Amino acid sequence: MNFLKKLFRKKEDSALLTPKDVEKYYDEWTDRYMDGFGDTFQSYRTESLPALLDYIIQSSGMRDDQTIIDAGCGVCGPAIYFATKLNVKIKALTISDYQCTIAEKKIRGNSLLKGQVEVRHGDFHQMEKYYPETSVDLIYFLESLVHSSDIPQALNSCKRVLRKGGRVYIKDLYYNKVEDKKLQKEIEETIRNLNKGFSLRVEKIDVLKKMVSDAGFKIIMCRPLQIPLYPEIGNRFVANNNITIYKSQKGLYDGKGVTYLAYYETLIEKA
Ligand SMILES: C[S@@+](CC[C@H](N)C(=O)[O-])C[C@H]1O[C@@H](n2cnc3c(N)ncnc32)[C@H](O)[C@@H]1O
Repeated sequence: MNFLKKLFRKKEDSALLTPKDVEKYYDEWTDRYMDGFGDTFQSYRTESLPALLDYIIQSSGMRDDQTIIDAGCGVCGPAIYFATKLNVKIKALTISDYQCTIAEKKIRGNSLLKGQVEVRHGDFHQMEKYYPETSVDLIYFLESLVHSSDIPQALNSCKRVLRKGGRVYIKDLYYNKVEDKKLQKEIEETIRNLNKGFSLRVEKIDVLKKMVSDAGFKIIMCRPLQIPLYPEIGNRFVANNNITIYKSQKGLYDGKGVTYLAYYETLIEKA
C-alpha cells in the first residue's frame, strides 16, 4: 500500500467507529435484533441453534470449572445456554446498557442457573477495569470483535485478565478473498456498505492473525467454520430492515450477489 493510500485508509478507518458509536447502535437496534434473531445475534448460524452453541463449546475447549468472559454478550442467549450445560462461571460484558437490562431479566428468570452468569455494562477494550488480572481461563468473542476499531487494545486487555495458558476464542466475519481483481473490488465496496449498515469494522483474516501474533499470543487454530451455514435468518433481517448491501441492489436484499464474507474461528493462547 503506498503512503497516500495508507494515510487515507487510516483516516477513514479511525473516523469509522468508537465503542460509544457501537453502544448507541445497539441501544437503538436491540429490539429489532431480538425480533429477527431471538436471543443469539449471530449471522453465521446453523438451522438448529443448539447445534451451533454445542459446536462453540467443543471448538473453544469450554469445560466445567472454568471462569469465562463473554466479550460482547448481546442479551446473554449463548452465555445462559453454556451455563446450563456446563458448570462454568460466565462474566458477560456488553457495551449496551439496554442489552444489559434485558440480559439481567433473562438470567433472573432462568431457574436452571445457580448464580453462574453475571452481566455488566462495559467495554471489552478495558476488561482489566472490571475483572481481576490473571483470573480468567477463557474469553470468547462471538461476532463481537468485528465491532472493534482497535483489536490490539482488546487483545491486550484479554492478556491482562487471562491466567497463564488461558485462551481466547474468536468467531467472526472477515473479507472473502478471491483471485479476480474486479470481484475483489466489489467485495471491498460491499463490505464498506456492511460496515456502515451494521456499525462494523470487518478485517482481513491475515490482519487478525498478525495482530494476534504481535500481541504475543500463540495461535492454536484459525480456520473457516466447520458447520453448515443457514443464511435465511440473517438475510431476512437485512431485507426487513431495508439495509442496502450490494452496490447494484435495487430492491430488498436477497443475499444472492457476490460472496463477500468469510467466517473463521480462531483459538489463541496466552504464553
Ligand atoms: C452481533 S452482537 C453478538 C452478541 C452475542 N455474542 C451473541 O452471540 O448473541 C455483538 C455484541 O458485541 C457487543 N459489543 C460490541 N462492541 C463492544 C465493546 N467494545 N465492549 C463490549 N461489548 C461490545 C455488542 O453490545 C453486542 O452485544
